[in-house]
Amino acid sequence: MNQAVTQCLLKSPLKTKPSSFWLQANQRLLAKSLSELSWEEAIVPLELDNGDFTLELQSGTSYQFAAWRTIWDQLIIDPASIIRTGPDGQRWSFSDVSQFFIDARTELHLTSVILANFLEELANTLMAEVRVQQNYHQKTAAELIDLTDDELQCYLDGHPKVTVSKGRIGWGFNDYESYATEFLPDIQLEWLAVNREHCQLSKIDDLSEQALLSAVLDTEAQARLLGVFHGMNLTADAYFLLPVHPWQWQNKLVNLFAGEIAAGRIVHLGAFGDPMLPQQSLRTLSNRQRPKQLNIKLPLSILNTSCYRGIPGQYIKAGPMISRWLANIVDSDPTLADRGVIVLEEPAGAFYPNPIFTRIEDAPYRYHEMLGCIWRQSVHDKIKASERAVLISTLFQRDGFNEPLIHEYIRRSGLSARQWLTRLFDSVVIPLYHLLCKYGVGLVAHGQNVTVVLEHHQPVRVALKDFQGDLRLVDQDFPELESLSDYARSVTARLPAEYLIHDLQTGHFVSVLRFISACLAEKGFSEVDFYGLLGKQLQLYMKAHPELNGRFKIFDLFQPEMARVCLNRVRFKQGYGDASERPLPELGTPLNNPLATTFREVP
Ligand SMILES: Nc1ncnc2c1ncn2[C@@H]1O[C@H](COP(=O)(O)OP(=O)(O)OP(=O)(O)O)[C@@H](O)[C@H]1O
Ligand SMILES: [Mg+2]
Repeated sequence: MNQAVTQCLLKSPLKTKPSSFWLQANQRLLAKSLSELSWEEAIVPLELDNGDFTLELQSGTSYQFAAWRTIWDQLIIDPASIIRTGPDGQRWSFSDVSQFFIDARTELHLTSVILANFLEELANTLMAEVRVQQNYHQKTAAELIDLTDDELQCYLDGHPKVTVSKGRIGWGFNDYESYATEFLPDIQLEWLAVNREHCQLSKIDDLSEQALLSAVLDTEAQARLLGVFHGMNLTADAYFLLPVHPWQWQNKLVNLFAGEIAAGRIVHLGAFGDPMLPQQSLRTLSNRQRPKQLNIKLPLSILNTSCYRGIPGQYIKAGPMISRWLANIVDSDPTLADRGVIVLEEPAGAFYPNPIFTRIEDAPYRYHEMLGCIWRQSVHDKIKASERAVLISTLFQRDGFNEPLIHEYIRRSGLSARQWLTRLFDSVVIPLYHLLCKYGVGLVAHGQNVTVVLEHHQPVRVALKDFQGDLRLVDQDFPELESLSDYARSVTARLPAEYLIHDLQTGHFVSVLRFISACLAEKGFSEVDFYGLLGKQLQLYMKAHPELNGRFKIFDLFQPEMARVCLNRVRFKQGYGDASERPLPELGTPLNNPLATTFREVP
């Protein structure tokens, strides 16, 4: 174990008080927890006459803090202002986020079992937060923006809504150091030869299996891997070469696929290939030396924000054709083509079902999703040399001095905030809304699935990804959906319009724009102006497409209210028991829709 890291995690050199990194990590996470849990209505802070807030808990503890309330009913809390008053009347300004969850357990309906498990997830998150502070909290926004796109992704805070955003249950400290994105690790993948009769492989016709190898292996490494393969008397007719994540191999595959290994249907060939850099989702990796190569998405059976991160088999066969269909739409539809929308196609996928667990159909979903791979186009293969591609969550990321990166992008772009945002909405929101209304396609457009492409620091277009599970279709028979094959339609989730609209409203407006607009408000660009501008851009688009008026009524973004989807409450309620299905979100009281409250008719 890296001693310097452990030292920094636990104690300052004086060993008398916790290190400042530890204090700051607690403070930041406590502010986030108070903010998101208030927004989810799990706790109810009251505003005091002086504008501060107080949260009185049934444990006899209270928390006071300075905050402002956003248009989304969110409290943006100053982490340094938080004071806890214990039942004994003692006041602490030192934040201890674990203590907060113990103090608030009645309000959060936490049983002792769930609370203890949750505190483990929180401890993992805190440990990672300390590391993150060592990384980027030493850097300014200007320095962060100058990192390469793939490296910058490693510096992001992670899920903005989930309090335990780096829970990663299943990883020990060595795993964490070897595989977590914030360490910028070089991961070398393990390779298996898998029997073709037992592994489902699906790919678009014009892609060779050799191209799949090239994603990770240069010519020399391919020769070495094939040398081992042939040395074991394996043949390409019978076996397919499948990369696996080293953690998954060591912790889930050697044991749970031991029968397949014993039968010779799975043969371990060893670690080969280029260093791969984990993206924010941890389980999708980019080639560090050859960034234009296909990204590799692998199952990682750890519990990380909401669910175990496996690869379900149900989309593998249709995956390549669905993303190709979407890419064709984007190329041929003038609204999307003019905006240069990029679809990061998933041209191939492989899935090896576990022969034991397939016999238990309703076994917990994680047992069904342990071995497979999705190959995805790299955004660097789709953009010009003058363009940069960043996850949209980069925009609300704060540097070590609390400065959101979006301000530095706007400053460097030479545009006013209003001009910059107009371009952002036009390049990102309009294509997403058009896909929804014209084609009935909903993409979960959260901050990790949407990539903004910038040129001269100005937003120019969007890149979309993550279609196997996060792409859903309207349950009505839109004629525009007929060009997708019956099979692909049958395996894709079909949702009523009032649910599908949440891929945009909850996925994007609440999970991305809510945080961006708060950053801008701090600099004087009001939320009323922000959502007024978004509404204006939407209406200009709608006016230009009268042929879709019927669809705009079905997918109405200007309704007075919209659902409040609460992710943290799901964990508090469901706990840590296994389930055969992925968890479903909880709903709070409806939100006032900022698009409706800031609405002004466009003449
Ligand atoms: N801003 C963010 N919004 C949502 N999720 C985020 C964010 N930043 C990091 N994440 C992490 O990224 C993952 C998002 O889940 P999602 O199902 O979209 O992606 P995935 O299927 O795991 O991977 P990929 O998008 O690479 O295909 C989660 O592990 C989540 O913790
Ligand atoms: Mg994703």
